[in-house]
Amino acid sequence: MASDHGDSVFANVVRAPEDPILGVTVAYNKDPSPKKLNLGVGAYRTEEGKPLVLNVVRRAEQMLVNDTSRVKEYLPIVGLAEFNKLSAKLIFGVDSPAIQENRVTTVQCLSGTGSLRVGAEFLARHYHEHTIYIPQPTWGNHPKVFTIAGLSVKTYRYYSPETRGLDFQGLLDDLNAAPSGAIVLLHACAHNPTGVDPTPEQWEQIRQLMRSKGLLPFFDSAYQGFASGSLDEDAQSVRMFVSDGGECLVAQSYAKNMGMYGERVGALSIVCKSADVAVRVESQLKLVIRPMYSNPPIHGASIVAAILKDSHMYHEWTVELKAMADRIISMRQKLFDALQARGTPGDWSHIIKQIGMFTFTGLNAQQVAFMTKEYHIYMTSDGRISMAGLSSQTVPLLADAIHAAVSTVV
Ligand SMILES: Cc1ncc(COP(=O)(O)O)c(C=O)c1O
Repeated sequence: MASDHGDSVFANVVRAPEDPILGVTVAYNKDPSPKKLNLGVGAYRTEEGKPLVLNVVRRAEQMLVNDTSRVKEYLPIVGLAEFNKLSAKLIFGVDSPAIQENRVTTVQCLSGTGSLRVGAEFLARHYHEHTIYIPQPTWGNHPKVFTIAGLSVKTYRYYSPETRGLDFQGLLDDLNAAPSGAIVLLHACAHNPTGVDPTPEQWEQIRQLMRSKGLLPFFDSAYQGFASGSLDEDAQSVRMFVSDGGECLVAQSYAKNMGMYGERVGALSIVCKSADVAVRVESQLKLVIRPMYSNPPIHGASIVAAILKDSHMYHEWTVELKAMADRIISMRQKLFDALQARGTPGDWSHIIKQIGMFTFTGLNAQQVAFMTKEYHIYMTSDGRISMAGLSSQTVPLLADAIHAAVSTVV
């Protein structure tokens, strides 16, 4: 009967591969095994393996729903003003001189990804240098977001497979060799996928080098508070760059630290040299956003603003956030201990040294495939596992699988 409708006008469309990260969940969902475990996607799970909605988020949401004076009119192109102000304070600090001097423009965007995209499009239109350096490796979506926005993507060395730590010299050499004015993407904390962050001293060296060469920092802050459990500590890298008076961009996401994944709440801030420049930059950000999605959604940003502006709710959030961070840190210790107990070949100390949502295990693609086939454990093929998806119950299974993988698959 298909011929009744003739050939599709889309007959030449080729089937695209699954997204390498989200595709892990697609494969996981198809697996009928009751013991299957998804460590692919970066979403927090409780000890019971369930998604978590923070109590404070539920409370704020209920408050908003009960408030019958609230309407669902369009937000301005740049989003909810209150949310933007509070987001800037969260990342730059309540006493930030840059904010007080009105040198920062903040616009509400569609979570971290949308903030990166809007920032990238702005740079492609208005910044003289179109090359952006991203760490090798980095979150898989970075090169796609920047390329499609019209930037040219190059990499700088970041991770040393030998030490499973930072390749600091490689990083300095590559940034030193970058053309002056180039944009540099920096993970504010909890580098994804490696879990390896520079020390404060290393950050300071990176800052000095970048400022001396006029490189433009573009921070991706997707895990503020989620790494150390402290919102201020996880913002130190960004604040170090802002306190020198120089310019930078910051993309913020509330997906992880408020568990607002599907609400798509985030912000792009551009720190400028003067208030006058910030006003002009904001006017151009509006021209980027308007034809892209017109204006951002109101619901998630209202929840975040309600929490950030109320000192009790804010405090409650920090407690719940720290509990998530602490659970992840305890999973690192448990997994490390379980591998030690099994006498698994190799040095696994990087599991407790790395920080944030992910451990970059060092397992190769064959070993990952083995663990999926034999143990129904799903993760990205680069050996990255989400520590937030683990629980005390599932650590032994993962440790058994890693032990078997490194013992039998080279
Ligand atoms: C480094 C990094 N940047 C940005 C994002 C964007 O997340 P979202 O768009 O959900 O805020 C993620 C999510 O995994 C990430 O790991």
